[in-house]
Amino acid sequence: EKIYVGVDVGGTTVKVGICDAEGQLLHTFEGATEVNKGQDAVLHNIAKYAKMIVEESSYAWEQVDGVGVGIAGFLDIPRGYVKYSANLGLRDADLKGYLEQELQKTIKVNNDANVAALGEAWAGAGRGVDHCVCYTLGTGVGGGIIIEGRIVEGFASMAGELGHIAIVPDLEAIQCGCGKMGCLETVSSATGIIRMAKDAVERGDRTTLAEVDEIMAKDVMDAAKAGDEVANRIISRAAFYLGKSMSMMAIALNPKCFIVGGGVSKAGDFLFDQIREVFEKYTLDQAKEGVTIVPATLGNNAGVVGAAGLILRG
Ligand code: BGC
Ligand code: NA
Ligand code: ZN
Repeated sequence: EKIYVGVDVGGTTVKVGICDAEGQLLHTFEGATEVNKGQDAVLHNIAKYAKMIVEESSYAWEQVDGVGVGIAGFLDIPRGYVKYSANLGLRDADLKGYLEQELQKTIKVNNDANVAALGEAWAGAGRGVDHCVCYTLGTGVGGGIIIEGRIVEGFASMAGELGHIAIVPDLEAIQCGCGKMGCLETVSSATGIIRMAKDAVERGDRTTLAEVDEIMAKDVMDAAKAGDEVANRIISRAAFYLGKSMSMMAIALNPKCFIVGGGVSKAGDFLFDQIREVFEKYTLDQAKEGVTIVPATLGNNAGVVGAAGLILRG
């Protein structure tokens, strides 16, 4: 029996999973990314954990058909090269070349959110759907576009970098980690939500968030649910720009569903209803008929499942 190893490289942990040919997770493993130790340490850890998971499982290395990796940042996908990852502190890293040498297996590298989208389309919320657009709301805003069952990569591997759609008008825009102004990520990521909350507290706005020590996105969400007006303004702003970007995607790609995952999406209907309302308001009827906006169902595992799927699904 062949097995497929998927690796999801995050800012703090590297998640690894062994999948069967149907996208079922057979075994998982997690280790520290150690971004603080620098680029070589991160590459080394990825290879090490991929070997370790197979060793500690009941499978043999010979059964591994290939290793797929999802990693945040701007890549040269065909060459498996990380050009720049702001959140992981990587620059010009030949990830595919390194892993081929270390592991002596077929290696596929792709963007973390593209891979999560593939996972959801394969075995999660998008199962059986050929056209979907996914968002992951975490440290950044990730995007993944699946058309006819395949990841859309674009000319320079930049397709689906939805977090960097410049959508906030200049007057309200702030600079994104990518260097540009007004990216979706500046308002709809956990980082963006936290920043807006801290700004409000610093300005002296009347909000229960003023009493929170270290504000997390969840605190803002909870305060909004409890009726805090400042928190509500922040969350509706995050939802507004997400919904608007979906409205644009609906016209560009006409997907059947939008799947939203990542920590922030755990807010549930409170967030989704607001996104749906915005999408409903701005989207042309013919492009929104039968279109759904749903939460991801694989949770933290979407990345490893999709990464393994890179091997199976080309
Ligand atoms: C990066 C993407 C990544 C996303 C989620 C963004 O800041 O540009 O490549 O997919 O964060 O990790
Ligand atoms: Na992407
Ligand atoms: Zn940006």
